[in-house]
Amino acid sequence: MSGTVTIVEVAPRDGLQAVSAFVPTEQKIALVRALAAAGLVEIEATSFVSPKAIPQLADAAEVLAAANAIEGILPSVLVPNRKGVERALAAGARKLGLVMSATEGHNRSNLNRSVEESFNDLADIVATMPADGPAIRWSFSCSFHCPFEGVVAPAQVLALLERAVAIRPGLTFALADTTGNAAPDQVRALFAEAIARFGSRARFAFHGHDTYNLGIANVAAAYEAGVREIDAAAGGIGGCPFAPGASGNVATEDVVWLFRRLGVETGARWRELLEAADLAARLAGGGAASGHLRHVRAAREAA
Ligand code: COA
Ligand code: ZN
Repeated sequence: MSGTVTIVEVAPRDGLQAVSAFVPTEQKIALVRALAAAGLVEIEATSFVSPKAIPQLADAAEVLAAANAIEGILPSVLVPNRKGVERALAAGARKLGLVMSATEGHNRSNLNRSVEESFNDLADIVATMPADGPAIRWSFSCSFHCPFEGVVAPAQVLALLERAVAIRPGLTFALADTTGNAAPDQVRALFAEAIARFGSRARFAFHGHDTYNLGIANVAAAYEAGVREIDAAAGGIGGCPFAPGASGNVATEDVVWLFRRLGVETGARWRELLEAADLAARLAGGGAASGHLRHVRAAREAA
């Protein structure tokens, strides 16, 4: 295999959002710097959501300002509504990650809205954003499995995509396995169908979690189906606090390792990535979710 894939590094946002002890702003910024030094270009730096919902990311404006000052990266921020967009733009956001869920249960739990209400909010944001405004990506959480509703029918996600794609051509849509319950056949089938139907008007990204150790297999399945943008968090940290049972994101070092073995270029620098993964895991409470990180820590202790 050959080619390239874009990694969207989400450790500073998805990775830290559920960590209960507040991570000092300076350390969040140090993490973004370490990820940038590892050659990661697309970095989801924070989110502009209610600080009551996610107190950990109440320092979003400061983190984004510092991320914007790092050369060579494109920081993005997650936003769920108009208020989030306004705060993000005021803080200098160059790329917005719009988010809602594909299922009623999770959208209610996470955003306190119906799917229809959130869809209309996000559609309005896309439709009214000027052409010279920030880049936009649109994510559907729980595109494969919902903690409240179980397995999600592909038709449910495809119906949302059909409407969303029509609003503005050229957007990227991230389909997320928020709980880490998806299996590779499910991932392959949904992306193959989405790309067959909408691939001429939209691009697709996969956002996976590794709850049942199928995260990397799911990434490989998404790639085989034609997906060229993969979300991952250094150190395998992360999870949505409003999705019971969710656990860490697929680890960036695992994803980079997979693509190295497949001969697919990611642009990541291996040693620096392991350093960033080590820092991410420490900020999130110390665990070393990925085999690579355990290996690196063992080698360091032995030295
Ligand atoms: N950023 C900051 N504050 C926001 C906000 C945003 N994006 N959106 C709403 N608020 C504020 C409102 O201004 C209002 O403030 P006030 O009480 O001082 O007047 C308050 O939050 C309530 O507004 P409302 O629209 O009624 O929000 P809500 O209570 O229904 O909550 C969300 C809806 C979307 C704001 C909230 O559920 C949320 O932030 N969820 C994000 C969860 C998340 O990040 N999950 C993980 C990532 S998928
Ligand atoms: Zn996630």
